[in-house]
Amino acid sequence: MADERNASFTKNLMAGKVCFMAGATSGINRQIARRFCLEGAIVYVISRSLDKVTATVDELSSLGTEAAGKNVDVRSYPDVEEAVGDCIAKFGKIDMVLAGQAGNFPAGAAQMSSNAFKSVIDIDLLGTFNVCRATVEHLNKTDGNIIAITAPQGSSPWMYQSHVCAAKAGVNMLIKCLALEWGPSGIRVNAISPGPIDDTEGMRRLAGSTEQLKKTKDSLALRDLGAKDDIADAALWLCSSAARYVTGTIIEVEGGTSLGDASGALKL
Ligand code: NAP
Ligand code: COA
Repeated sequence: MADERNASFTKNLMAGKVCFMAGATSGINRQIARRFCLEGAIVYVISRSLDKVTATVDELSSLGTEAAGKNVDVRSYPDVEEAVGDCIAKFGKIDMVLAGQAGNFPAGAAQMSSNAFKSVIDIDLLGTFNVCRATVEHLNKTDGNIIAITAPQGSSPWMYQSHVCAAKAGVNMLIKCLALEWGPSGIRVNAISPGPIDDTEGMRRLAGSTEQLKKTKDSLALRDLGAKDDIADAALWLCSSAARYVTGTIIEVEGGTSLGDASGALKL
């Protein structure tokens, strides 16, 4: 599946919008940042690795818009707050927030330490709370919107993913609570649940071999992996006025993952 939607489709959908994006220095989230920049957004990225932040900021700046960032671990609230302050000092406002950071490794619950479980809960769930909490006062001034990136594990149990299932289920409930509390202030809060997305760290960790990839594709209703741009398209829609009445939802861009195993289904 092609992963670069043509820049000539650019319609400046995000012109002048300042986006604070956690975990946007690789994979799916970086592609969202790239697409947003191609649509005229100004982007501030955070993640732990300074090298990844620097490389992403360089790339995004080369797309003809402004970008900046900071190496921050979302598990530290004071550090997230400091990055938000830096974003405001540089760009003056925040219109949109992405909480896309995550940690994942396959491990049985009986083989995983308490700290291993905690590390994923803290990155995915506490990190999402931290990013939303630290930006809300700024989103209140712009009628902004939040997108969290969740996963199919948040709505059904998976083997060797108890930490991720628990964390993403928490994210799914958190965004609904925030949507309820912050909607009256004009802030929309939604999540996107990607299915298996080609050429990502997540897929390398969960289905790294050719055999596993084939099995994954064969089990899906749509019989193919998704592209990073499929998620970027959904994010663009959620940020647009076309989604102005949408809040508290989880948009499944999953190729049918949560519908169940379609490997027995015959082609018509
Ligand atoms: P990825 O490339 O590994 O991206 C993860 C990002 O989060 C990186 O930028 C990473 O940068 C950052 N990050 C990790 N821990 C962090 C922390 N403690 N503080 C701040 N930043 C942190 O992953 P991906 O596969 O593209 O997945 C992206 C999102 O999509 C995740 O939320 C994942 O759960 C979701 N998802 C992915 C798939 C898939 O098929 N890949 C399917 C369903 C859902 P640093 O290393 O620099 O911190
Ligand atoms: N199986 C079982 N336990 C594991 C593990 C694995 N594959 N990988 C790490 N752990 C355990 C560690 O042993 C440690 O537990 P301990 O202190 O009891 O030994 C705990 O998890 C924390 O590990 P650490 O490496 O200190 O955490 P970190 O905060 O530096 O990194 C991770 C977080 C573990 C989630 C790491 O995989 C990561 O940085 N992931 C980000 C990228 C990613 O996962 N992308 C895919 C997104 S879908």
